[in-house]
Amino acid sequence: MNLILLGAPGAGKGTQAEMLLERLHIPSISTGNMLREAMKNGTDLGKQVKSCMDSGALVPDQLVLGIVAERTQQPDCANGFILDGVPRTLAQAEALDKMGVRIDHVVSIELSDEEVESRMTGRRVCTGCGASYHIVANPTKVEGVCDLCGSPVTTRKDDAPETVRNRLAVYHASTEVLKDYYKSTGKLRVINGKQPIEDVFQDILRAIGVEK
Ligand code: AP5
Ligand code: MG
Repeated sequence: MNLILLGAPGAGKGTQAEMLLERLHIPSISTGNMLREAMKNGTDLGKQVKSCMDSGALVPDQLVLGIVAERTQQPDCANGFILDGVPRTLAQAEALDKMGVRIDHVVSIELSDEEVESRMTGRRVCTGCGASYHIVANPTKVEGVCDLCGSPVTTRKDDAPETVRNRLAVYHASTEVLKDYYKSTGKLRVINGKQPIEDVFQDILRAIGVEK
């Protein structure tokens, strides 16, 4: 099963991707996590995208598409994958179609801008594997340490309030249009993101036909 997780910054894509990968046994491909990893490692790609990412702008389509093309061809993607945060522009969606990437369901996790802004202030992310936590809604079992890989958790630089506002504006201007794009193909599944994490998860499982 090939899934796309769509939604505003902070809507819960990363959180749900982690739960879905365990349930469905398919990898999650998070372009945001991969780009942050490239920045952390100081690679050429990381240097190229740093200013875009720090300001909350989108990185150029071609860079993102290159990463996705390479990653989806890895053997662990043979039975499916979860795209978290990609595509993010009409050009990216059309390019995936041209590349022959077959998509089964596009899950749009919906949340108001006000809710996003309040969630971001409590977010913590793992410096090792990129897993997302929240100091109230989804805390780590041991304070400051990732449940999954044991690395320290920290705040994300682009979660500063003014950068979050910029990311929301970018979402409305460039990404939201993808809902219409996938609605027209009958693949869009709209999920209410303003529910407890487990309820969002159950709604997604029902929407993609994994549970009744
Ligand atoms: P990316 O890393 O993809 O960021 P994003 O889309 O802005 O989304 P986030 O990761 O911030 O939020 P999320 O939806 O994953 O929410 P989370 O589960 O963490 O991209 C970052 C940057 O990379 C972009 O700005 C751009 O520069 C670049 N980039 C990436 N992909 C690109 C692309 N395709 N094209 C161009 N540029 C690209 O949850 C948020 C918080 O809420 C957490 O604290 C979590 O614990 C909590 N939470 C989650 N669900 C719930 C719930 N149901 N109730 C209460 N709290 C919850
Ligand atoms: Mg994320």
